[in-house]
Amino acid sequence: MARHIVASTSEIPPGSNKVVDIAGRDIVVFHVNGEFFALLNRCPHEGAPLEKAACVARLTSPEPGVYERSRVGEMLRCPWHGWEFDMRNGQSWFDPKRVKVRSYPVAVERGDELQKGPYVAETFPVHVEDSYVIVEV
Ligand code: FES
Repeated sequence: MARHIVASTSEIPPGSNKVVDIAGRDIVVFHVNGEFFALLNRCPHEGAPLEKAACVARLTSPEPGVYERSRVGEMLRCPWHGWEFDMRNGQSWFDPKRVKVRSYPVAVERGDELQKGPYVAETFPVHVEDSYVIVEV
């Protein structure tokens, strides 16, 4: 699996997403609760773009009349017919064994930790003294 740099973290503010094309695949990257998740941008039901999905909470009910919300923003509700998927692994909520959205591993790394290219430009020391920029060659 090849690594692809798709955005700086500031390009995907918390609560938003960005759609990228990786090797012909339409992939949507979500930023939720300080984490990033990548899923195929296509609902397995009839193909709705999941970039338009609502990011909702997981809602459970331990007993009648009692509801608990958890993992706020980590569940996707498809914009067309409301199927719900877990953003962490793409599994559907109603049929987790058979229906899921393809998910992809995501990592956040500092720019200086990414692989360096083979070419290096010659650099020179620069100083600012009063209002003048001085380059030493
Ligand atoms: S296309 Fe997503 S639920 Fe129908």
